[in-house]
Amino acid sequence: MMDGQGLRRSVREVFEVRDGEEVELRGWVWRKREHGRLLFIDLRDSTGVVQVAVNSARVGPESFSEASRAGRESSVELRGFVAHDPRAPGGVEVRCSSLKLISPSLDDFPIRKGASARVLYDNRHLYLRSPRVAAVMRIRSNLVWAIHEFFRSRGFVEIDCPTLVTAAVEGGATLFEVNYFGRKVYLTQSVQFYQEAAIYALEKVYSIQPSFRAEKSRTTRHLTEFWHVEAEMAHAGLPELLETVEELVRYAVTRTAELSENELKLLGRSIKTEEVEGRFPRITYGEALDILSRHGFKAEWGLDIGADEERIISSDFEKPVFLTHFPRMLKPFYHKPDPLNQDVTLSADLLAPRGNGEIVGSGVRIESYDELKARILEEGLNPEDYYWYLDLRKYGSVPHAGFGLGVERVLKWILGLPHVRMAALFPRTISRVTP
Ligand code: 4AD
Ligand code: MG
Repeated sequence: MMDGQGLRRSVREVFEVRDGEEVELRGWVWRKREHGRLLFIDLRDSTGVVQVAVNSARVGPESFSEASRAGRESSVELRGFVAHDPRAPGGVEVRCSSLKLISPSLDDFPIRKGASARVLYDNRHLYLRSPRVAAVMRIRSNLVWAIHEFFRSRGFVEIDCPTLVTAAVEGGATLFEVNYFGRKVYLTQSVQFYQEAAIYALEKVYSIQPSFRAEKSRTTRHLTEFWHVEAEMAHAGLPELLETVEELVRYAVTRTAELSENELKLLGRSIKTEEVEGRFPRITYGEALDILSRHGFKAEWGLDIGADEERIISSDFEKPVFLTHFPRMLKPFYHKPDPLNQDVTLSADLLAPRGNGEIVGSGVRIESYDELKARILEEGLNPEDYYWYLDLRKYGSVPHAGFGLGVERVLKWILGLPHVRMAALFPRTISRVTP
């Protein structure tokens, strides 16, 4: 029936063509209303939803019977004429002339209005079809695109690193173990150490790949598998590091807003690009303690900056804020101590505003062989597990620095999502690994 020659349109295009134009559409039944011999199908494809009127007086009996059998999420192919009609959602409807059922729905679609989070995420494989979820996924794709654009324009080389590793980067508490032919290995927490090896060949590198953390806490910002944007730069110190992170975040957020106009309209949201305009404030860990004591926290030196503390600090700022110079004891062994004060490190976390908390972790790395080995021993780690990482300091070591940014955390912030799981296609958390 359908030859598609020249008539095939996406749903979004239907809103742009002339009144009366004939179109052919393929999609899924998002919603359906029946008024006797008149059916209204809200037809969904990857570009949007449009109302289709199926009138038994205008389509043949075969088409009408197929339309009647098409329950929610059935796949259909249809032809019709575009009519501008103020009564239709978006002001446009398609008056159907013929319809073919590609595949019916065998059961009632399990996603209904008002479904609980549990039902929605047990059925994430079906819930993805919701135009709102699809819009978040498109925005995510735009964000990752923008991040690639930034790095490529700055001469960074993209590298892909292993996922199966033999030693911790970010401490042993959040390692996932894997049985590797009888040997215990882990899922990577960060590709940082491989990037540090690569800078001696490529100088500026970046990667976008999953990291794994056996996070035992149930929070709205922790996933056990998240997508990690990481970069490492030879010859960089703290000032260059902070500049690069700031410029990346500014570019990625404004470019994502620019690329995502349609999706943001559908979500009824806007990205607050003014938050990333101008220089991001920088405060030291010590200054953060002062802010916390003003808010009634018992803010003693060494206090870990957890979710509650981050919320308080980042609520004090309208822009992302860098928290620098964390005490040595709060950071992994590879962080370089400040030559001016050995108790603190040349490290920085970037906290997103409006109480969103950490989106970037970064720092300058120890470049001296002896110093790195001493820190590994001081932390009770085995230098043999880090033999190749130590080797990098044996042959022409240079000052270097890098950072990691969580893709889902950034989306949560810029879209105002209540939970990071909304930013992941199939989220993994302490309580969920299916579907
Ligand atoms: O601060 P983190 O642990 O830093 C590192 O892994 C460094 N090795 C990165 C580097 O310097 N190359 O993690 C970096 C970022 C965090 O700021 C956060 O955005 C994200 O990764 N992240 C998580 N996102 C979601 N769920 C989790 N469980 C996350 N853990 C970290
Ligand atoms: Mg961190």
